[in-house]
Amino acid sequence: VITDQNVNKLYHHDLQRYPLIEFAAGEEHKTLETVEFIYHRLLELGADRSSFLVGVGGGVVCDITGYAAATYMRGLDFGYVATTLLAQVDASVGGKTAVNFHGFKNMVGVFNQPRFVLCDIDLLKTLPREDIINGLAEVTKHALIGDSDLFHDLEAQPRKILDLDRKLLEDTIERSLRVKIGIVEKDEREVRERRWLNFGHTFGHALESLAGLPHGRAVSWGMKLAVQVSVRKGRLQEDVAARILRLLEVMGLLPDVHCDASQLKKAVRTDKKKTGDALKFVLLQSIGRPVVEDIPLVELESLIDDLC
Ligand SMILES: NC(=O)c1ccc[n+]([C@@H]2O[C@H](COP(=O)([O-])OP(=O)(O)OC[C@H]3O[C@@H](n4cnc5c(N)ncnc54)[C@H](O)[C@@H]3O)[C@@H](O)[C@H]2O)c1
Repeated sequence: VITDQNVNKLYHHDLQRYPLIEFAAGEEHKTLETVEFIYHRLLELGADRSSFLVGVGGGVVCDITGYAAATYMRGLDFGYVATTLLAQVDASVGGKTAVNFHGFKNMVGVFNQPRFVLCDIDLLKTLPREDIINGLAEVTKHALIGDSDLFHDLEAQPRKILDLDRKLLEDTIERSLRVKIGIVEKDEREVRERRWLNFGHTFGHALESLAGLPHGRAVSWGMKLAVQVSVRKGRLQEDVAARILRLLEVMGLLPDVHCDASQLKKAVRTDKKKTGDALKFVLLQSIGRPVVEDIPLVELESLIDDLC
């Protein structure tokens, strides 16, 4: 079992019966150094190609476990027990694994599918409210790119899910997963539809690294900027944009953040979606209808100047 210190503290009683590898919690530990530490521990524990790794934790644990499993001895089987809302609705599913490198998000990684993903809603009872809110960012993203009914339901009772109503959570996680799974099944390697899942992530990843925001809130800011770009490019109506921004605001997903245009531009230039002098950017045409457009970097930079 591979987990982080917080999860191990909370669930040690259940985890201690397995050979255990624990690392310090937090995005700053999603690095090659942590992966190297895991390789050392696997060697110490005598892991071989018949070993099975189970990542028990949030998105950070899932991403690191998947990457370590893909590379140790050219690949071990693995599964995830997702313990945050964000991991349950997004990070554990789809087979993307990666670590950050020199301050750049998810720079080193592979596609690698787990054998199973377990999403047990009871595990969310110990999750701080802040992290439930973070998870709602990816739920909202899935609604915006693929399920307008889910968006309307979130809009109707934006904060009810924070009470951890079991039925509502179960329903929301399932609908959110259906959007992601539907897209990944069509395009596992992100050459067409899977690009939609990057909605809000160009600016989101940049802000996650620059402003130190948690992933969910960074993506929410990224979605806010992407919605504004969609309006400026004439793709999205202003009243629809206003509804989206209102929902993000009401859910507490847009904390005050200092947006430094020059740093943001620099970060966007290293985005993985860049090809030549343009960037594949996900815009919205309406709720549930994303579109990918090649936006020249110079145009994106002038939009950043305007929006910041
Ligand atoms: N691979 C993908 O497709 C994908 C998709 C989305 C996000 N991600 C990645 O996921 C990461 C963010 O995931 P996250 O928000 O889960 O962050 P996280 O893994 O850092 O977890 C957030 C915090 O919650 C703690 N925690 C986890 N489970 C808990 C529980 N049940 N009770 C109490 N505390 C608990 C963790 O120790 C941590 O402190 C980012 O690195 C992001 O890049 C990956």
